[in-house]
Amino acid sequence: MKQSVKLIVGNWKMHGVAADLVEARALIESVHDVRADCRIALCPPATLTDRMRQVLAGGRIELGGQDCHQAPSGACTGSVSAEMLVDAGATLVILGHSERRGAFGETNEEVSAKVEAAIAVGLEPIVCVGETLEQREAGQAAAIVSAQVEGSLADGLSERPFAVAYEPVWAIGTGLTPSLEQIAEVHAAVRSAMIRRLGQAARRAPILYGGSVKPDNAAEILGVSEVGGALVGGASLKAEDFLKIIRAA
Ligand code: G3P
Repeated sequence: MKQSVKLIVGNWKMHGVAADLVEARALIESVHDVRADCRIALCPPATLTDRMRQVLAGGRIELGGQDCHQAPSGACTGSVSAEMLVDAGATLVILGHSERRGAFGETNEEVSAKVEAAIAVGLEPIVCVGETLEQREAGQAAAIVSAQVEGSLADGLSERPFAVAYEPVWAIGTGLTPSLEQIAEVHAAVRSAMIRRLGQAARRAPILYGGSVKPDNAAEILGVSEVGGALVGGASLKAEDFLKIIRAA
């Protein structure tokens, strides 16, 4: 089943201080005329979540976190819990981003535990998967990504809204993207893995593409079969660019 409502998510990563909320304000002012059947979300750094909630209040842009701890609370210096994100206004959370799998050694099991923590407080997880360049060149992209999907999703998701984001590691922040055929092939593998893991309920969850999505390639990527939206890094930092991607949805 093809998702008709695209989900376009901006991941600000570790960019943004209060002064940058001007971009969120510009976005909310321009987004009114974008067609109504597209969901839009921004995921700022944790420190900006509450302030961004005030900027986005009453509008159609949803708010998300970039990660959460798997424990509900406790002696976890520097971490943010799922409940804290909800308290600050988030309704979604990105989990298992390759920058966390890589730099912080997050495993599929940890990502799955974070998914459980997120859905326990009503957050909608966006679970990221993606192969490295080496893995793609070895012909392992679909197998690696399928294993990440099966290992990172959690049982509770069969009854909850969630998304999977396919982000090839080599495409993130590089300006490189897979061909449309390669995107279609991996998205089909992701869908099959989701169904193997969660059953037919997994058909309704969108599969986003992420990795160098820009205003000039968004329309063709979003037109690929099984691409249910986009997870956008660099191009979400400027309202003008992000808006062009939203318009392409
Ligand atoms: O989560 C989004 C991301 O990893 C893609 O980043 O800058 O290539 O759009 P970018």
